[in-house]
Amino acid sequence: MPILRQIAQLGQPVLRRVATKIDNPADAALQALMDDMLATVAEVDGVGIAAPQVYESFAIFTVASRPNPRYPHAPEVPPLVVINPEIVWMSSEMEKGWEGCLSIPGVRGQVSRSTKIGVRYLNRTGDLREEEFDGFLARVFQHEFDHLHGLVFVDRLESTRELVTEREYLRGLRNQA
Ligand code: NI
Repeated sequence: MPILRQIAQLGQPVLRRVATKIDNPADAALQALMDDMLATVAEVDGVGIAAPQVYESFAIFTVASRPNPRYPHAPEVPPLVVINPEIVWMSSEMEKGWEGCLSIPGVRGQVSRSTKIGVRYLNRTGDLREEEFDGFLARVFQHEFDHLHGLVFVDRLESTRELVTEREYLRGLRNQA
């Protein structure tokens, strides 16, 4: 049975470390970690989580996008486990969009990201995958990729004026609807 993991909050040194690449994705402890990450991110309505966010400094993250109360407009895609990712190319076209982070509760910020990326990674069975992502998934991938390099989304804000509380962010979404 997967275990719900505690989420490291900003200030924990693990979030600022460069994560270690995985040699053997089949390792039982790492497979259990992946199950725990998927269960944890579903429990807290995240759309992705990186291993350092559960105090494990390994180059693993999940993308688990589905509409939920924190991200009402997230697309529905089957949960993806990403190991040792590389971003092979990124579009020069950038777009600003709202991001939040389970490690920085209560705030959302506008972050500029490439609209399209080409990536390479191992899936959880250790197969090499090459894919392209655009839109919301490209954003989530870049956000989680940053976590493996000790970066969080607030590092990428152009101005602290583009940071708002989650309460006001969600109020804004409701007013648009
Ligand atoms: Ni995050």
